[in-house]
Amino acid sequence: MTKGDVIYEGKAKVMYATDSPDKVLVYFKDDATAGNGEKHGVIQDKGIINNKISEYFFKLLKTNGINSHFVEVVSDREMLVKKLNMIALEVVVRNVAAGSLAKRLGLEEGTALKVPVLEYFYKSDELGDPMLNRYHIMAVDIASLQELDEIEHIAFCVNTIMKDNLRAKNVDLIDFKLEFGRDEKGKIILADEISPDNCRFWDMSTHEKLDKDRFRHDMGGVEEAYKEMLTRLTM
Ligand SMILES: Nc1ncnc2c1ncn2[C@@H]1O[C@H](COP(=O)(O)OP(=O)(O)OP(=O)(O)O)[C@@H](O)[C@H]1O
Ligand SMILES: [Mg+2]
Repeated sequence: MTKGDVIYEGKAKVMYATDSPDKVLVYFKDDATAGNGEKHGVIQDKGIINNKISEYFFKLLKTNGINSHFVEVVSDREMLVKKLNMIALEVVVRNVAAGSLAKRLGLEEGTALKVPVLEYFYKSDELGDPMLNRYHIMAVDIASLQELDEIEHIAFCVNTIMKDNLRAKNVDLIDFKLEFGRDEKGKIILADEISPDNCRFWDMSTHEKLDKDRFRHDMGGVEEAYKEMLTRLTM
């Protein structure tokens, strides 16, 4: 595999072309942002940890029948993935009220939800990632009804598989954000990353936050929390 030109540099990762037209190389940076990019910082070794944690979850999902864009990890900070046509949606699944949902519904952070909640957000920095429902998505042709059914089926399976796996490690899966793309045949494929950057992980006994919220809310112990999550997953 030969590393080619930069295709896209985002807030947390850089995407490189490779000598295989259907593969891209993801480089995980230590950069961290919050509040739609208003807040910027560096979490030391976050890129290395998120690369390993994403590898862990993509492999876990694969053994449970959920395919993703994951091909292989090629270095500390680099992952080879299938190149996809990304769907401009952030798909959030929530088991416990936190972040914007707690605010929107006036719920205390930590309130258990009777059923898992799925939310769609339009992946648009200019528009500030507005929340969408199925009709908005179909009306502006972001995805079809069949594709939304497929996306929701995968998202809820991911929730069950990750929740069960993390419970054994004394971690509560509070919520997470997924991204999807279409492969060359138009098939819906799970993409992007699964890490403390786009998931909320709480210690099941102490409710200690083991994710990017420590950075978002200047709680300190950020690097330690990312390392703790990697340790728990790989022990
Ligand atoms: N398999 C894939 N093929 C093509 N693009 C992908 C794939 N997986 C993820 N991407 C895209 O690559 C980019 C990854 O970079 P990054 O996550 O830093 O960017 P961002 O999403 O713009 O920023 P942020 O996640 O901080 O909002 C995203 O735009 C993501 O949608
Ligand atoms: Mg991203």
